[in-house]
Amino acid sequence: MDSASLHSLLLKTPNNPTNTFSFKNPITLPSQNVSFITPTRSNKPFSITCAAQIQDRSTTTSSTQSQDRVFNFAAGPATLPENVLKKAESELYNWRGSGMSVMEMSHRGKEFVSIIEKAESDLRSLLNISSDYHVLFLQGGATTQFAAIPLNLCKIDDSVDFIVTGSWGDKAFKEAQKYCKPNVIWSGKSEKYTKVPSFDSFEQNPNAKFLHICANETIQGVEFKNYPTPSNKDGILIADMSSNFCSKPVDVSKFGLIYAGAQKNVGPSGVTIVIIRKDLIGNAQDITPVMLDYKIHADNKSLYNTPPCYGIYMCGLVFEDLLNQGGLEQVEKNNIKKAELLYNAIDSSNGFYRCPVEKSVRSLMNVPFTLEKSELEADFIKEAAKEKMVQLKGHRSVGGMRASIYNAMPYAGVEKLVALMKDFQVNHRLQLTICTQIDWMMYYASNTSDDVKSAVSIKFMLYRFNL
Ligand SMILES: Cc1ncc(COP(=O)(O)O)c(C=O)c1O
Repeated sequence: MDSASLHSLLLKTPNNPTNTFSFKNPITLPSQNVSFITPTRSNKPFSITCAAQIQDRSTTTSSTQSQDRVFNFAAGPATLPENVLKKAESELYNWRGSGMSVMEMSHRGKEFVSIIEKAESDLRSLLNISSDYHVLFLQGGATTQFAAIPLNLCKIDDSVDFIVTGSWGDKAFKEAQKYCKPNVIWSGKSEKYTKVPSFDSFEQNPNAKFLHICANETIQGVEFKNYPTPSNKDGILIADMSSNFCSKPVDVSKFGLIYAGAQKNVGPSGVTIVIIRKDLIGNAQDITPVMLDYKIHADNKSLYNTPPCYGIYMCGLVFEDLLNQGGLEQVEKNNIKKAELLYNAIDSSNGFYRCPVEKSVRSLMNVPFTLEKSELEADFIKEAAKEKMVQLKGHRSVGGMRASIYNAMPYAGVEKLVALMKDFQVNHRLQLTICTQIDWMMYYASNTSDDVKSAVSIKFMLYRFNL
C-alpha cells in the first residue's frame, strides 16, 4: 500500500472495523511503544514516535555457520575459520601423538620447531616470498613495530615520509617522531580519512629512508589498491598490512618491510609478523632494545626468547587452510564477492545507509557505514545481535557501524547481514511513512474535533491495523 492510499484510507474510514490491510513486511508496534504528543490548538502537524520490531527472518536466510556460533564482524581479534578452530580443538590435548599440547612444548623442541618452520614455509608459498626476505614471528603487536621500524632502519636524524590515510598511519607517524625525523607528505585527515591520494599529488623527500603507508586502515575502511614507489632510489616502501594481510596476493618485492598483527586475518592476537629484506637488518640504533632488534630475531629464527608458541601454531593452521582454499588469488575472489554484496546493499539503499569512503579505495576487509537517521543505529545493532550477528558497532572515534569481513567471514554471514539491512530499511521507512500519515491525520482531526477525541480515535486505529 502506498502512502497516499494509506493516508486516504485512514482519513476516510478511521474506525471502520471491516477495513483490513496488511503489510508485506509487517511491523509490530505495541501500544506501550506509541507515544502521543497531545494535539494542541496550534493547527500544526504534531509528531508521534513509533518503535518498530523486525520479524524474525532466521528461517529465510542460509547459513553455513554452526548453530552455536555467531557471525562475528569484529575488527580484531576477529573471527577465525571454523575448520581451523576444530582442528586446533582436536589437537589441543595431545598434539599429533606427542603426548603434549602445543602450549606445553619447549619452543626449542623438535615438535615446535617443525610447527614454526611449516608456518613460515606456508606463508612464503602464499605470498611468494623470496629468499631475499626474512620472515619473523614476533610479539608486541603492530604498535611495537611503530617504534621498531625507525629504530632498526634509521639514525635519529634521518628523514622518512609518511602518507597518512587513517588513524593507524597517524599513530605510526607519531611514534616515529621519537626515533627519527618523520614528515607527513599527505594526510587525509581534513577529509575524515575517506581517500587515498593519487601518487602524483604529493612530493616525497628525495632523501627519505623510507616511505610508510598503512595498506588498509581498519577504522576508516580505506585500502590502497596499488602502491607508491619511493622517489629515493635507496629508500624503501614499508606497509602496515595488519588488517589486509593475506587477503589478496601482494608483490612482496615492492616492499622493504611488511608488518602485520595476526589477529585479523591469520590467527590470534599475540603474534606479529614482519617480512623484511635481508640487507636492511643489522644497523639498529644503539638504544634499540634487544627485543626490537630484527637482527637478533632473524639470527635466532624467531626463537631468541620464548615466542608466542600457540599463536604461531594457530597462524600455521590458517596458512595451511588458505593454501588448501587455492591460495590468495582464490581468497581475494571470495573477499571481492563478499565486499561487493555489502557495498551494493549500501549503495542501493537510496541513502538509508551510507559509506563515506571514496568508492575506488573502499576496503575489502572493513566496511564502515552510517544510517541516514543515526538515532536508529543502536536499534540496528540490537536487531543484528538478536540474529547472532555481533560486533557491528563502529570504532568509538568515528561512530556509525563497521562490518569487518575478513577472510574467515563466510559469504553466508554477509548475506545474512545484507538481508537484515534490507528488512530494517523497509520496516523503518514504512514506520516513518506511517508516522507522517498519522501526523497529518492528527492535524486534520485537531481542526475538526477536540484533542482528546482525536487522540483516542488514532489510538484505536493503531490497534485496528495492528501497527
Ligand atoms: C592497521 C592497524 N595497524 C596497527 C594496529 C595495532 O595493532 P596491535 O593492537 O596489534 O598493536 C591495528 C589494530 O587494530 C591495525 O588495525
